[in-house]
Amino acid sequence: MDRRRSEKWRKNFEKQRELHRLIRREARDILQSANFRSTKRYIQHGNMTVHSHCVKVAKYSIAISRKLHISCSQRELIRGALLHDYFLYDWHDKEHAGIQNLHGFYHPGRALDNASKEYELTLREKDIIKKHMWPLTVVPPTCREAWIVTTADKWCSLMETFHLHRGHGKLLQKLSASTEEGREE
Ligand SMILES: [Fe+2]
Ligand SMILES: [Fe+2]
Repeated sequence: MDRRRSEKWRKNFEKQRELHRLIRREARDILQSANFRSTKRYIQHGNMTVHSHCVKVAKYSIAISRKLHISCSQRELIRGALLHDYFLYDWHDKEHAGIQNLHGFYHPGRALDNASKEYELTLREKDIIKKHMWPLTVVPPTCREAWIVTTADKWCSLMETFHLHRGHGKLLQKLSASTEEGREE
């Protein structure tokens, strides 16, 4: 029984390591950027930071495309997933209280603006960011990559809201962000 459990743990560890390597290979510049690292200071759902949420959505997106044998551009899938919530503020903060209820509608546009200023986005990456809140943002995705990310995002958000995916919270992330400075995730 213990052996079976440790084997399961080992397999999961290997899988996570492989996914993380892949993400690092395709999006090292994003992971290392100061703005992306700053998302460790913002909470998404529950005690999950925006940073952890986006990395998780990227991992789930790869897993979905593999599981369902959906051929797609892995690089655009990963980069779009990492940048899909690049709105760069904490929507729970008092200063954003006025827009809190409308955050769901507005943040894809804000994320797209921010990401466009820093990266040469492809059409697919733009579609992923802009449409990830569908059906809230009425126009549906127009590429497979965007459909995958919107699905992964909904699943992760649900798990985080019900605390089935747990993060380390904002404060701890703040501390670790300061000690990890200069080190890539
Ligand atoms: Fe979002
Ligand atoms: Fe999201």
